[in-house]
Amino acid sequence: SRPEACTVVIFGATGDLTHRKLVPALYNLQVEGALPAGVKIIGFARRDKSDEEFRSGLEELNKKVSRSGHDDKVWADFEQNIHYHQSEFQDQEGYDRLAERLDEIDRERGGKGNRLFYIASAPSFFDDVLEHLKKAGLSESEDSCWSRVIVEKPFGTDLPTAQHLNQVVNRTFNEKDTYRIDHYLGKETAQNIMVLRFANAIFEPLWNNNYIDHVQITCAENLGMEGGRGGYYDKAGALRDMVQNHLLQLLSLVAMEPPTDLSADGVRDEKVKVLRSMRQWDTPELVAENVVRGQYIAGHVDGEKVVGYREEDRVDPESMTESYVALKIMIDTWRWSEVPFYVRMGKQLPKKATEISIHFKEPPTVLFNALAGGVPGGNVLVIRIQPDEGISLRMVSKIPGANLRLEPVKMDFHYATSFGKGSPEAYERLLLDSMAGDATLFARRDEVEEAWKFIDHIENAWHESKNPPEMAEFVAGSWGPKEADELLAKSGHKWRRL
Ligand code: BG6
Repeated sequence: SRPEACTVVIFGATGDLTHRKLVPALYNLQVEGALPAGVKIIGFARRDKSDEEFRSGLEELNKKVSRSGHDDKVWADFEQNIHYHQSEFQDQEGYDRLAERLDEIDRERGGKGNRLFYIASAPSFFDDVLEHLKKAGLSESEDSCWSRVIVEKPFGTDLPTAQHLNQVVNRTFNEKDTYRIDHYLGKETAQNIMVLRFANAIFEPLWNNNYIDHVQITCAENLGMEGGRGGYYDKAGALRDMVQNHLLQLLSLVAMEPPTDLSADGVRDEKVKVLRSMRQWDTPELVAENVVRGQYIAGHVDGEKVVGYREEDRVDPESMTESYVALKIMIDTWRWSEVPFYVRMGKQLPKKATEISIHFKEPPTVLFNALAGGVPGGNVLVIRIQPDEGISLRMVSKIPGANLRLEPVKMDFHYATSFGKGSPEAYERLLLDSMAGDATLFARRDEVEEAWKFIDHIENAWHESKNPPEMAEFVAGSWGPKEADELLAKSGHKWRRL
């Protein structure tokens, strides 16, 4: 199905996400001619603002962040379709006024009342927004129209709060109209994982514990708590902020069985099985053995001096929140039996890079054992999620010359050279999919809850147990604490150098 014209109502429209991601994504779709004609955007927020003020704030940021640049003429057309709606999130009257406004827009557009509600407010208002939308009659649609809701992260802060939010969502909107966003699924390279695995014949036969030794997923960031983020982050931490959602989603794409078809449920059925098969680190001892939590202390990133995590703006000076986490995940299925998946994520590391590496078992080396240095390591397939999107395969080759000497070389695919253009932003794809009614790249209720179940055991061991494991410190701008290296060394492994 194709994206259909609709009115997009963004709750929390004065926030960063709307300015940096959502509106620039819609603008880029407009530039590419991909946005259905007749899409209207209404920003819903508490502050008093005129349409003009709202538009000019959006324009200012679009100039800075838009990947296709900023064309004054295109923007002038685009902004005609943007309006501001002032209301408290808890004020029913504001939603009733919204309903009238939407009806009016539908009449102007020609009667088609499709609505896309994007909840990007502070999470404490998620329930209010959903309940009030229902009371205003906005969660249901007339025949042949639709009314859908996109819920931004964080989807809960633990299993009980996620279950609660799921209940509220499900009593206000139909599950088929609910889109739980995880923007990592909108990244081109994440979508390519399934294509790499299932549209090629040479990888899948090796994609199991017979040939794969272990898998690593790294998400490194070279930013700290800029822009007042410390307030949110210090309550969340790396595990909740990125592992529960983005990294477990990547892991499930790597580890899933081939789906029976490409329908939203076909794919999500397989992903959730992976999450369900994760071995639970459900005692403090298991957590201590398999999970490392860390914090950066003052150091240098990109040549700039940076403060330590506990000195960051809006962070508790005695904070026990992790800015870094490394963990071992075991997936107890036939395919992955005893193959460790190592996952690490951290702020203020040396660079921004997300990648997945598949480390194959070493070949039988009888032939080359006698050589000085033997065979230099096994094959590694690297999927670069971002930046420099691409895939590379490390192989061993003979160094040209009379002597037999071996060296690893790389077979490399770069999106930029093969396709000659950059990838669209994740939010572009996800917004279009939600306008088309395709939920494949959105998390389903059971996926979110399974992921929280796994995360909660770890959080409990850290924050509730009598002997919580230490916080591992490392200098900002380095590759994380030594404890993370030791975690892999125990099984004879090493983090890949990025
Ligand atoms: C967000 C997290 O979900 O993802 C941030 O809250 C993180 O802490 C961001 O920086 C990373 O997204 P991306 O697309 O820049 O890798």
